[in-house]
Amino acid sequence: MAQLWGGRFTKETDKAVYDFNASIRFDQRLLDADIKGSVAHVNMLCAVGIITEDEKTAIIRGLEGILSDTRSGKLEITDDYEDVHSFVEANLIDRIGDAGKKMHTGRSRNDQVALDMRLYTRDDITAMKGNLISLLNVILSIIENNKDTYMPGFTHLQKAQPVTLAHHFSSYFEMFRRDHDRLCDIFDRMNYCPLGAGALAGTTYPLDREMVAKELDFKGATASSMDSVSDRDYLIEYLSALSIIMMHLSRLSEEIIIWNSNEYRFVNIDDSFATGSSIMPQKKNPDIAELTRGKTGRVYGDLMSLLTVMKGIPLAYNKDMQEDKEAAFDAMDTVADCVFIFARMLETMTFNNDVMKKSAMNGFTNATDAADYLVGKGVPFRDAHGIIGQIVVYCDKNSKSIEDCSLDELRKISDKFDEDIYPAISLETCVEKRLTKGGPSKQAIEEFIKGAKEYLRR
Ligand code: ARG
Repeated sequence: MAQLWGGRFTKETDKAVYDFNASIRFDQRLLDADIKGSVAHVNMLCAVGIITEDEKTAIIRGLEGILSDTRSGKLEITDDYEDVHSFVEANLIDRIGDAGKKMHTGRSRNDQVALDMRLYTRDDITAMKGNLISLLNVILSIIENNKDTYMPGFTHLQKAQPVTLAHHFSSYFEMFRRDHDRLCDIFDRMNYCPLGAGALAGTTYPLDREMVAKELDFKGATASSMDSVSDRDYLIEYLSALSIIMMHLSRLSEEIIIWNSNEYRFVNIDDSFATGSSIMPQKKNPDIAELTRGKTGRVYGDLMSLLTVMKGIPLAYNKDMQEDKEAAFDAMDTVADCVFIFARMLETMTFNNDVMKKSAMNGFTNATDAADYLVGKGVPFRDAHGIIGQIVVYCDKNSKSIEDCSLDELRKISDKFDEDIYPAISLETCVEKRLTKGGPSKQAIEEFIKGAKEYLRR
């Protein structure tokens, strides 16, 4: 048991207490961040005259050795150490002796872990943004390839009005674009360096906090030392954003599961992204979508853990905050996996255009347009709505759609119908006449694609 704080204790820590307290099992993934932060700290300690040039060089060389030896497997991170910070410091002292004992001057593990976690999270946000951009690119190509793939649009899961697959996916593009924007916002807000806050009250050493912040690519040093060591808002914001990403993926999962069902048959999930049943030979299951939908609960749980851990903590650092890590890492890993695999599943998924088109042509998806036709003939909209309602009842009884009715049949209900009703309620007309910004027509979708491409070019 290598501890940094033995001095005031007269007894060995109980083994169970040691294990209960230790975080090395999960905080070892902060190793790179910890060493990067220490190098910046030590550069600054030398610049302000607290350690010598030689000591600095020895420490940095030692830290680099620890990093390369753990990477190569020569040095193992074991639970002999309480946490990653103890692991690094103990190994440094083993390697370079007394100079190593100066590294922690003017620093506490409280500001150190606050820095490590921010560095780690910053990198994770950057990687997550990349994953989202890949997903957005896949969605954009679905949009570009399906400008006239007709399908029913739904409300209440009932057929409503015809749209196109491109239009449907433009919604998901918007969701994930906003998710990407949210990550950019969070990154900007969290991008300040907490190092130099000490345990809570800063330090009497003449530290140059801005120098450290600059070396580590932060916008500056944080403004309040007590807040710096006890702030986990940025993690909560990030986990909220991750939860929203999962909510979006889960909605798309749900649609894919429905579209993949025997009743719908709108999509074919590629064989390499589906799974079978051990008993039913005919099965091809949408497990990726189902797992993603399921993992959404897990990520929400991580967010709730963090919110709950933080809710009763008095200023400043308290050990409760060590509990931020497993939840945060779990959410980061889970969402990265889901976004990555989802993009690949979408990329390989094919659509049954004929089935979707046929589906769009029944279920009275053109009823609104039929009413709008009557409005064009001078009938007030509310009356037109009533007339088409009667026609729907008539069609339902006779198992036909509006366009199957002869002009005579239609005229029995309203004498405003003419031959031009048929082209006015064709699937193509219903979609292509919807020219409003954000609508399903090819013209509106072209505008959308232009905007989407501009966003991805930024
Ligand atoms: N393992 C701790 C954490 O994750 C590091 C900070 C410990 N600080 C302390 N004073 N015990 O929060």
